[in-house]
Parts: sequence; structure tokens; C-alpha cells
Amino acid sequence: MKLDQFSLLDDSSCDARIVAAKALLGKRLAILGHHYQRNEVFKHADYSGDSLKLSQQAANSDAEFIVFCGVHFMAEVADILTFGERKVILPDLAAGCSMADMANLVKVRKCWDELSQVIDPDQTVTPVTYINSAADLKAFCGNHGGIVCTSSNAKAVLEWSFSRREKVLFFPDQHLGRNTGFRMGIPLEQMVTWDFMKPRGGLTEEQIRNARIILWKGFCSVHQMFQPAHIDNFRKANPNGKVISHPENAWEVCQKSDFVGSTEYILRTVRASQPGDHWLVGTELNLVNRLADEMKPKGVTVQFMSPTVCMCSTMFRTDPQHLAWCLDNLVAGQVVNQIKVPPNIADPARKALDLMLEVVD
Ligand code: 13P
Ligand code: SF4
Repeated sequence: MKLDQFSLLDDSSCDARIVAAKALLGKRLAILGHHYQRNEVFKHADYSGDSLKLSQQAANSDAEFIVFCGVHFMAEVADILTFGERKVILPDLAAGCSMADMANLVKVRKCWDELSQVIDPDQTVTPVTYINSAADLKAFCGNHGGIVCTSSNAKAVLEWSFSRREKVLFFPDQHLGRNTGFRMGIPLEQMVTWDFMKPRGGLTEEQIRNARIILWKGFCSVHQMFQPAHIDNFRKANPNGKVISHPENAWEVCQKSDFVGSTEYILRTVRASQPGDHWLVGTELNLVNRLADEMKPKGVTVQFMSPTVCMCSTMFRTDPQHLAWCLDNLVAGQVVNQIKVPPNIADPARKALDLMLEVVD
């Protein structure tokens, strides 16, 4: 079945096909949905969660087919953690992550080589990659005594890393690294930013020697939309209001927030609030809108942090048409858009991911 046949179907026809395919495939199928997915897709997920929860779900799944409604690196993780024994499907192969694309193996190897002209990174630096990264970067960490983290367990992962080596190279998200390091009491001056476009990251030898964390200069294009002024304006209008942000936000935004945590943490915290509470939430629009709808009948208001509409455009790529297309193909015995990580990358990447799953906050 070709995708073109589904592209012009309306959402309700796709819904009917998705529901029918799920009934036919039964326990052979598990649909995982990240919190940033749009409602039309999210409602079909068997399991929802943040990156950590979905990784754990994938690792424990015994379904033959795992359809990942999320982005590419998440499907790779599911394939790695299931030893390639399940068929992991990404409904739209163009669903990537612009932050993950800001680091690649060539640039990270170059960074490691340049660091070794100043210090001995294999003795002194733990490489830590955020789960939002390609599988070969997770493999790099696995091969160099490093580890993967998510926004849920970044603090515990950094503590683990510092118990082994004195410094951390953190990629690709500078903000998660900086916010977490600061929370652990590391001063900003000891967290330097590695500009991968400049020789030796644009840093002096002294800056490298004095650094506790070397932060890759990557960021999330969605979270960079949130500004400290948005929080100031909210507080003026709602003096008793509370602000909660994802740690991919800039340090200045997190500093002005009352709570900082992963998507799962944000949901848990806001859901525990009292009638009359007002929230400003600094994370992706689909999650915030869904949470606002859920909390409204409980007398809790939830406001999106930015005055402009910004959502994760790659998460948005997964639509009912793509989901119906891949499920109909599964029913017909054809696997489309399978994500397979070759063993020479999957094995060392699994080493770093297994450590991540052991080190949970
Ligand atoms: P979570 O780990 O909180 O789900 O975040 C993933 C992500 O991509 C946020 O931009
Ligand atoms: Fe990547 Fe940002 Fe989208 Fe998360 S919200 S998947 S970090 S681009």
C-alpha cells in the first residue's frame, strides 16, 4: 500500500482504519506516543510518556511491532533496547529532532581530539549524551566510558559521571547540561560552551583545564522561543501564579521558574495542583494545550509561555495518515519505515543506554 493512497484521507477515515488495524493486530502491536504528539495521534497510543518512560516501555515490550509516535532518535533507542528483536516503526521518517542534528560523530570526534591536545579526555572526561542524539553518538559514549541521560535523570547521570572522572563533555543540549550542573552547585564559569564551528571549540587551554562541564553549543529550536520577559509579564498579571519549565529552556528562563523538569514531571506537578491555581508552562504546545483542557474542569488554568504559537514541527509530522498507512501495511504483512541500528553501533550504544536505565533519579 502506497502512502499516496492515505495522504488525502480525512482524519476520521484514518481513525477508523487505525482502530480496525489495532483490533486485528492485538498484542502483536504496541503504539508509543510522546507527550508532544498532536491529539489526533496521541489518542491512539497504548503507552504515553517522556523519553525515559518510553525507553523503559520499549525495553520491556514483548510486542512484535513497536510503532513509535515520536522522533527518530526515540525509535532508534527502542530498536537498540529490544536487541533488534522487535520491529520498530517510525510512521514518518522525516520526524527528526533539530537539536539532535546539532551534534554528529565527526564533530564530536574532532572535539575529543582537540581536547586531547590539552588534557587526557579518556582519563578525565566522561562523555554524556542527551538521549536526543543519534545512535552513533550514544555508541561513542559507550566506547569512552560514558553514558546517556534524559531530562528526567540528568542530575543523577552527572553525579554518576563525576564519581568516575573529574569533567563531563555534555552534548548536544547546552541548556540541559547548564541547568543541571547549576542545580548541582557548579558555578557558571566552570561550565564552558564548546562552539563546534570554531577551532578548539573557541576556548582557551585554561578554560578547558578549569572546566567541570564542557557544554556542546546545541539547543532546542522550540524551547529557545521562551524568554524571561514572558515570565515577568505573567507574574505581573498573576502574582500568585506558578511557573514550570522544561530544562531545555535557557538558564535565565529556568532561574525565573518555580519548577523545572521533564515533560512527565511537568504533567505530574500541574496535575497535583489545587482549584484556583494558575500555571505558566514552558514546553511544547501540544502538551500544554492538552494539559490546559484536562485541568480546566478542575478550576486550574494552564497558559503556554510564549505569546506566539510554537510547536515541535518534527513531532508534528506524525499524522493520522502516516499512522494509518503503516498500520494497514502491518495488517497486510508488510513492514514499512522500520528503524534498524546496525550491531556495531547498537552494541556500544546499548552499553551507555543500559547505564542510563540503571541511573534513575
Ligand atoms: P522529555 O524527555 O521531557 O520527554 O523531552 C524530550 C524532548 O524532546 C523535549 O524537547
Ligand atoms: Fe527535538 Fe526540541 Fe522537538 Fe524535543 S522539542 S524533539 S528537542 S526539536
